[in-house]
Amino acid sequence: MIKCKPFLRWAGGKTWFKKHISDFLPIDGYNQYHEPFLGGAAIFFHLQHSPAFLSDLNLELIETYIEIRDNVEEVISHLKKFKNTKEFYYDVRASKYRSRSKQAAKFIYLNQTSFNGIYRVNLKGEYNVPFGYRSKNFFEPDNLRLVSQALQGTNISQCNFQETLNNIRENDLVFIDPPYTVAHNDNGFIKYNAKLFDLEKQHELSEYIDEIKARGAYYILTNAAHKVVEEIFTKEGDSMIGLSRASLIGGKSAKRGAYKEFIFTNTIVND
Ligand SMILES: C[S@@+](CC[C@H](N)C(=O)[O-])C[C@H]1O[C@@H](n2cnc3c(N)ncnc32)[C@H](O)[C@@H]1O
Repeated sequence: MIKCKPFLRWAGGKTWFKKHISDFLPIDGYNQYHEPFLGGAAIFFHLQHSPAFLSDLNLELIETYIEIRDNVEEVISHLKKFKNTKEFYYDVRASKYRSRSKQAAKFIYLNQTSFNGIYRVNLKGEYNVPFGYRSKNFFEPDNLRLVSQALQGTNISQCNFQETLNNIRENDLVFIDPPYTVAHNDNGFIKYNAKLFDLEKQHELSEYIDEIKARGAYYILTNAAHKVVEEIFTKEGDSMIGLSRASLIGGKSAKRGAYKEFIFTNTIVND
């Protein structure tokens, strides 16, 4: 196992879930690993299972992973020339580079030096997050090299989650971490997400899970703890487990009505 950590700040990142994932893995192991909503890849870096199929709809994100896998030294050499100043930030933000490795360096640089690291684009598809005034180093070359090693041999592609079905076979494991449509424990929709991943998409995701099961593969889905989500994803024989970030439900934070997530899975049979 290569000791590396995610190199991006990513909304909905699952670093907090690392300590729970082993409770959900199939007891008898699994063949291929799939992560169709890759984002910052916290769970992939934690498991480093091979073979792995990693994908996301975000093209710039995926091109960055591919460059880190195939061309990490060039990405690092570009990053070394970037400066964490306001003027430099807006210059880089407005630039389009022909070199793929420089584009990847730009993606990492903006992610690390921007205001809150969220990926937000305007109607023209241009990244529009302001400068962050962060004093921290914006990249760690040694970690990027380790990330590159961990990515060797992985299949990385940009696609909609449904397309990943082409590679899913019996006894594979699919870790599914979609954008959350509804706010945790409350009735409201997350408005900025509504267009991106609406309730209709959640229904499509439920059908995608049915397809995974029909192939005899395993899934672990994380989602908002909300009754609408419960209705969509409850499947006969499968399990739904509530988690708060701090502990399993029933802990102190649950009593305070803290943030909860639901995990749906067919790795734990509910009889
Ligand atoms: C909650 S984040 C995943 C976070 C990740 N597990 C981590 O640890 O950082 C959801 C991801 O889904 C991606 N996404 C949104 N719609 C998608 C779709 N239709 N198909 C595939 N990926 C999608 C977003 O680009 C985003 O990276």
